[in-house]
Amino acid sequence: MKRRVTFLWLTVNICRLLLGAVFLFSGFVKAVDPVGTSYKLGEYFAAFGWGAFTTGRLPLLLAVGQAVFEFLLGTYLLWGMRRRLIAIVTFIVMAGFAVFTLYIALAHPVADCGCFGDAVHLSNWQTFAKNVVLLVCAAVVLRWARVQSPRVPRTLKWVVALYSLLFVLGVALYSVQNLPVIDFRPYRVGATLRPEPSVTVEPTYILEKNGEQRRFTAADYPDSTWTFVGIEPAPASANDDLNETLNFVAFDADGNDVTEPLLTDPNYAFWLITGRLESTDDSAIDRINEVQDYARRYGYRFCVLTCSSEPYISEWAAQEGLNCPFYQVDADVLRTMVRSNPALMLVKNGIVYAKWSDSRFPGEHKLRGPLHMAPPTPVNAALALMKWLMFYLLPIVAVLLLYLVGRKQKKQTIKPQNNLNMRKKIVAGNWKMNMNLPDGVALARELQSQLEADKPQCDVIICTPFIHLASIAAFLNQDLIGLGAENCADKEKGAYTGEVSAEMVKSTGARYVILGHSERRGYYNETPAILKEKVALALKNGLKIIFCIGESLEEREAGKQNEVVKAELEGSVFSLSADEFKNIIIAYEPIWAIGTGKTATAEQAEEIHAYIRQVIAQKFGDEVAQDTTILYGGSCKPSNAAELFAKPDIDGGLIGGASLKAADFKGIIDAWKK
Ligand code: PGA
Repeated sequence: MKRRVTFLWLTVNICRLLLGAVFLFSGFVKAVDPVGTSYKLGEYFAAFGWGAFTTGRLPLLLAVGQAVFEFLLGTYLLWGMRRRLIAIVTFIVMAGFAVFTLYIALAHPVADCGCFGDAVHLSNWQTFAKNVVLLVCAAVVLRWARVQSPRVPRTLKWVVALYSLLFVLGVALYSVQNLPVIDFRPYRVGATLRPEPSVTVEPTYILEKNGEQRRFTAADYPDSTWTFVGIEPAPASANDDLNETLNFVAFDADGNDVTEPLLTDPNYAFWLITGRLESTDDSAIDRINEVQDYARRYGYRFCVLTCSSEPYISEWAAQEGLNCPFYQVDADVLRTMVRSNPALMLVKNGIVYAKWSDSRFPGEHKLRGPLHMAPPTPVNAALALMKWLMFYLLPIVAVLLLYLVGRKQKKQTIKPQNNLNMRKKIVAGNWKMNMNLPDGVALARELQSQLEADKPQCDVIICTPFIHLASIAAFLNQDLIGLGAENCADKEKGAYTGEVSAEMVKSTGARYVILGHSERRGYYNETPAILKEKVALALKNGLKIIFCIGESLEEREAGKQNEVVKAELEGSVFSLSADEFKNIIIAYEPIWAIGTGKTATAEQAEEIHAYIRQVIAQKFGDEVAQDTTILYGGSCKPSNAAELFAKPDIDGGLIGGASLKAADFKGIIDAWKK
């Protein structure tokens, strides 16, 4: 059993983390280059004939939205937030992607799905296979959503979610305004746009003579007295990957190929890269003119690369006052080179020295004197990705560390020398046999939203009929409201029709159980011996117990209340070890006060609470007694709770009738604030 749980736990969490990491990555690489993502979306829309989506800024908006959605989905998965909802969303998204990419693989409307931007290119079938694996992971996470066990507190998770949202939005908006923060494309700064000179492209030949092996090139290949041994292929050039993907060809107005002179120009050259001139933003034209003047002054080439042809070229040149050569380049190549229209590229010797988006063109103040720049080394995209990841993670790790240190210190300061009255304050609800399922769920939700808005200053527990437990556990934040049952069986399992075992209670997600309530003792003949069994089974299954004791009216009138509560404790919970007893919360409930409207006076209650604590001290020692929470129950309501809770030995209440209305129950919880 244990082995299966461990294996299941591992499987579910590995699936969750894998999905989280993939979504975080794919969201990030899209946010790095939203314009590129919008081109990809545009390709899809065009392939499907959805022209309406390709208009204006809509593709860019959708691209930013997609990047943010995927990054946040990744964050939520990694941190195990809103587990059920996120598991459903992830499954729906992955199912959609799987079907969609199957269609893409079969019909092939686009060549590359673009799911990882320009960072990783997958073929359509590889994408489909990846999505099938992720869909299986999503199914596992959905089926066993509860098995995930993140241990990070809720508030910290929300800080991470908000920070991640701001981070990914920041990266996306910055990349739209400027150029992609990481350039994965073959035209990145430092890249060589022309093929490497063929200095090392020759293979080396290995030959042998008289037992001696030597290496030769084709130029110094020896005579036939040497025996051929093998061949070493030419070493790969660092720019091979770039050159393979380069498609750069430029033509002048007369149709002459000017690629070579552009790529071999030994001087600095400013290339103004535009797309279609009709849709080129000319708000930066003053700066463009400044760059043109500067280039002319220092003898640098200044030209415009465009995919437009005449007469647009002459029209635009005249309109913008540009007097420079215009060269035609393929539209897709231009869009790959830079992501804004227009943009500026500084090239020398076929090497990209710098790139600027239209909002960042260098102005007069930057362009002074001749240029003396060292050739830049191409940015290693994988390394840049790692750096950004660190940049994203560092604040999270710092906050986590601060939190852990803070928690440790808090723990140390909370353990006082004299721990008197440091025990937990609790208000627990006992719904009894009230509320059908929808009403109960609604009540729990209402209470949760009230307490989220106005944090309680005590622990809050609700104990509900069995039928509510699983449904409520699915949404209840148990750091805010603990969930418990009102009873459990005195048998472990088997043929006990109608009974519900402690293990079953625990499996719903509940953490508490009420045992020994006077209604069960009275109406269902639960004896101390039966209760002892129930206590043992509840503890065995990791449930905390609210153990009820209390005298009847006759017993109180006969002055036997102390005797009765002591016997009830001895009969069912005093055989526990001190360690086990730490899981017991006592609820003193005088039977004559339950549901009758008669409350024990605060003094009466305090007197017997103090006595109960004393009995516990005699049995388990003073420290355990001081740590034990003792609740009062019996017609406790908002109007009398504060007076009762003000007593030193009354640590809260077990509330019946008044726990059935969120407002009343909250009124009692708020008594701890007075
Ligand atoms: P009551 O019930 O608050 O309705 O009196 C208390 C209880 O039985 O737990």
